[in-house]
Amino acid sequence: MLSFKSNNAKKGIVGIVLTILIIGSSWMIEPNIFSTEKPIPIPPSKQQEGNAELGYNYLIYGDFIKSGLPYTIFTKIFGKDENNYLGRTGKAATVPAGFNVVKHTNGTQIVVPTCLQCHSQIVDGKLFLGLGNTELDFTNLSAGKEWLQNLSRLAMKNVAPKQYEATLSITTSLSTIAPLMRTEVKGVNAADPLAILLVAHRDPYTLEWKEKPLLDIPDEVVPTDVPAWWLLKKKNAMFYNGFGRGDFGKFLMLSNLLTVKDSAEAREVSTHFSDVLAFLKKLEAPTYPNKINIQQAQIGEKIFVTTCSKCHGTYGEKGTYPNLYLLIPSSIIQTDSLLFKSNYQNPQFINWFNKSWFAQGENPAKLSPSNGYVAPPLDGVWITAPYLHNGSVPNLEAVINSKIRPTYWGKDFKNPTYDTEQLAWKYTIYDAAVNKTVYNTTLNGYSNKGHYFGDQLSIEERKALVEYLKTL
Ligand code: HEC
Ligand code: HEC
Repeated sequence: MLSFKSNNAKKGIVGIVLTILIIGSSWMIEPNIFSTEKPIPIPPSKQQEGNAELGYNYLIYGDFIKSGLPYTIFTKIFGKDENNYLGRTGKAATVPAGFNVVKHTNGTQIVVPTCLQCHSQIVDGKLFLGLGNTELDFTNLSAGKEWLQNLSRLAMKNVAPKQYEATLSITTSLSTIAPLMRTEVKGVNAADPLAILLVAHRDPYTLEWKEKPLLDIPDEVVPTDVPAWWLLKKKNAMFYNGFGRGDFGKFLMLSNLLTVKDSAEAREVSTHFSDVLAFLKKLEAPTYPNKINIQQAQIGEKIFVTTCSKCHGTYGEKGTYPNLYLLIPSSIIQTDSLLFKSNYQNPQFINWFNKSWFAQGENPAKLSPSNGYVAPPLDGVWITAPYLHNGSVPNLEAVINSKIRPTYWGKDFKNPTYDTEQLAWKYTIYDAAVNKTVYNTTLNGYSNKGHYFGDQLSIEERKALVEYLKTL
């Protein structure tokens, strides 16, 4: 068996569905007898044109985050990175892929975290750009807060006032919000609460930082698995529950809220994000590296078309993608509801956004929450383990056989290895949640229930289906 080994460096942001009966091939996903809910099509919205090359350049060199650690201090603490996975030139070549080297407005050269902290992963010594990072640790961010405070103290002692000034904006925002985005298990992402926290401290029109939050901050930290970037080009709406409508560029630039000074700066940054969108639309899913049993895959394709395509679309040259989202929990999907409920139950956040700078101008964005999740495109699904929006299901077969889903399972974070036959990060099944590296599906937000659409298939049919899924 060929397997991949990860050697991802530990440098994160802070270290940084009554059961469904599917019979036949038409919409026989009868909403249950007590429900009239049906999948709802999501309409497309107009997007700005951009230049993909400029977009890529901005992602790996750009200054959408405008405060960070002085380059000299960063390299003193972490040393220089030898990998240069992105093949960058200049000082950027010497920092890990998840950081850019940019100039602060006061002239100081600083190292800033980027999208690639969450949206890239190293598998078998190769960086997969746009693959969701499953190795971040959001379980102990109060330690992250101390880390940041120590760093700024250090910065104060050893460096010029200008260098200290360059760290201020990011240390202020991160140390205010980090303690409030703690997840229960390692490997899941806290970007959804991060977005809420970021806007809570910002004036909706001027985007200026406010020390006291202007909005009520929800208690729960919703865990998510980071979706692959190459899926965006098929989507009419962004995010797991499809609530990101209108100009995608406005959502893509949300990280800028970490350090944005005011709406004038946001306007300048936003001009680059049509280019970033153009780049994201060009990204293709990586091809499965091992031999595929073509006969099995052809049998699997027929099963897929009958059982799965109505939600997930068809693939190949004449592929179609229905852009549907599915109502939960009463009838159809039944996966964990915390994420969509949190989007629904925090109207203060939705209202903030829909009246904010982001919702104004010629290319406005809008948040339109609903109680459902989008059925994602499955391109490159072989490499996107763990599965479901909360990453609760470790391997692909278990997505189509709910009976084999483990309640407690743990990935080996010390020596993470991708198993290209199981289509999973190698994992161990536990009897209990012995520590934070063990995924605990009994917790609120972390449930592995729902998506029972493969349960009625035979063992042979499922095997053929998995073989087909490897080809996408
Ligand atoms: C702290 C981690 C983190 C950072 C940093 C981050 N993202 Fe994300 N991103 C996420 C998570 C988590 C989601 C899924 C959220 C959801 O759908 O509810 C996501 C979703 C996305 C999506 C997919 C939307 C979809 O529906 O397919 C895109 C595209 C994206 N982010 C782009 C970016 C860009 C561009 C940046 C940098 C400017 C960035 N992200 C920075 C964590 C992050
Ligand atoms: C009624 C619509 C529907 C049908 C039918 C359906 N799915 Fe899904 N599927 C979804 C939705 C919605 C999600 C997202 C659920 C979530 O993340 O909570 C999903 C998620 C998935 C995922 C996880 C993707 C990821 O990256 O996490 C896989 C894999 C998948 N489906 C495969 C299949 C296969 C194979 C079939 C056929 C046996 C199938 N689905 C049938 C709606 C459907």
